[in-house]
Amino acid sequence: MKEPKQMSRRNFIAATGILAGGALVKDLNAVQAAPKSSLHYETKKLRIAMIGTGSRGCDMWGRDLVKAYPDRLEFVGLCDSNPGRLEFAQKYIGTTCPTFTDFEKMMAETKPDLLIVTTVDATHHTFIVRAMELGVDVLTEKPMTVDEKKIQLILDAEKRTGKTCRVTFNYRYSPHRAKIWEILRSGEIGDITSVDFHWYLDTSHGADYFRRWHRLVEKSGSLWVHKASHHFDLLNWWIDSDPESVYALGALDFYGKNGSVRAENCRTCPHTRSCKFYWDVTKNDYYRQLYVENEKYDGYLRDGCVFKEDVNIFDKMAATIRYKNGVQVSYSLTAYSPYEGYRIAFNGTKGRLDAWIQESKPISDVNYDEIVVFKNFGRREYIQIPFGTSGHGGGDALLKDQIFIPNTPDPFKQCAGIRDGALACLIGIAARNSIFGKEPVRIADLTTLQPEEKKRYNRVL
Ligand SMILES: NC(=O)c1ccc[n+]([C@@H]2O[C@H](COP(=O)([O-])OP(=O)(O)OC[C@H]3O[C@@H](n4cnc5c(N)ncnc54)[C@H](O)[C@@H]3O)[C@@H](O)[C@H]2O)c1
Repeated sequence: MKEPKQMSRRNFIAATGILAGGALVKDLNAVQAAPKSSLHYETKKLRIAMIGTGSRGCDMWGRDLVKAYPDRLEFVGLCDSNPGRLEFAQKYIGTTCPTFTDFEKMMAETKPDLLIVTTVDATHHTFIVRAMELGVDVLTEKPMTVDEKKIQLILDAEKRTGKTCRVTFNYRYSPHRAKIWEILRSGEIGDITSVDFHWYLDTSHGADYFRRWHRLVEKSGSLWVHKASHHFDLLNWWIDSDPESVYALGALDFYGKNGSVRAENCRTCPHTRSCKFYWDVTKNDYYRQLYVENEKYDGYLRDGCVFKEDVNIFDKMAATIRYKNGVQVSYSLTAYSPYEGYRIAFNGTKGRLDAWIQESKPISDVNYDEIVVFKNFGRREYIQIPFGTSGHGGGDALLKDQIFIPNTPDPFKQCAGIRDGALACLIGIAARNSIFGKEPVRIADLTTLQPEEKKRYNRVL
């Protein structure tokens, strides 16, 4: 076999057609008009109500929307169970709209066009279902919900009401992930046969999940659902098929019960000098105003101890996923890594696509992410994608534009609806069930949603 000729990184742009903007897209039959949306109006602004005025509600879906689209939308109501956080959010977002601690009252009095759901994960379904029953479209943060019964409630409500729900899978929108989708669809590596996907959360970001409500499976569905549903959605979208079965293992080896010392939270801890995870939440002015000053209303501690005994989620997880089209995936998630990022490789009948993405701290001073395409018996090609400038690898701003700017095309099929939201959660739920049942779990056995060999692009807002 001939040694593959290696291509220098400097020469790759000239040599490969892959980078040439939309060159591949014409072959993909993917350039399509934006889905017809009920969200856009010729003459009036979109009237938005939001439930959950925590961090994500205040920034991404609050202040950022008001700043970016002043002529297209307005907030007509904000709701949260914590009245102090609600008051702070109203000022922070920059709206004078009324505030509510009662969701039904907000919906009745404000009659919004769109409800944005940014509450704790395990509560999403209540607001999604009720808004659809009231004839209101919904946009929800991921994960759409946390268990199979709640997914079924949402599927039933969609059928009953004819309304829909957009799930904000911002990870699909980062330019390097869109480039991976484009390369896979181009046939460069042939048919995908298997995927190796390993995600690492570091001892800063990863640890933060164990400080917050996320550490409780009853609130977050565990990292299998809260975090990994992002990754599973990417897999479903990249592989272009639905998951069929999942076998998984998981354990809590580092946080929670594994610590040698612990306290309720960092501010009351006697071990601040020795604990590597000591964090002073009051040094962050935003967090102080959002959380610390409103503890008196609900007792929620943003700086909970990562070694609390009540942590009941896993911090190391591994799953084998089989797709309807025969692709098999080897996935893992580690929440106590020294660095943050992921490695992914797609094996195909004609070659292999590899990427190693370091997320929080760049590996070196480069300002791009790299994808390497290896051709069987051929040469390798390096594709470099400049870092995005907005949050989540540049994905957040692109996602918002696609939702709120009318007729934005969807060439990479990034819009996600209830079916996508359900399938992403279902892999995590199946993994959780598989650990307890010690056997593979079939996705088709969890809800009425039946996996298909070719991914179905469903109706979205
Ligand atoms: N896509 C992403 O990258 C991304 C990033 C961060 C968070 N999120 C998602 O956004 C959502 C919010 O996360 P966050 O970080 O803002 O959390 P947070 O704790 O800062 O905010 C949650 C808010 O919901 C409120 N709340 C909880 N239950 C409620 C109820 N029953 N009724 C009314 N209000 C209720 C809380 O008081 C709080 O203000 C979560 O679903 C999370 O998964 C997504």
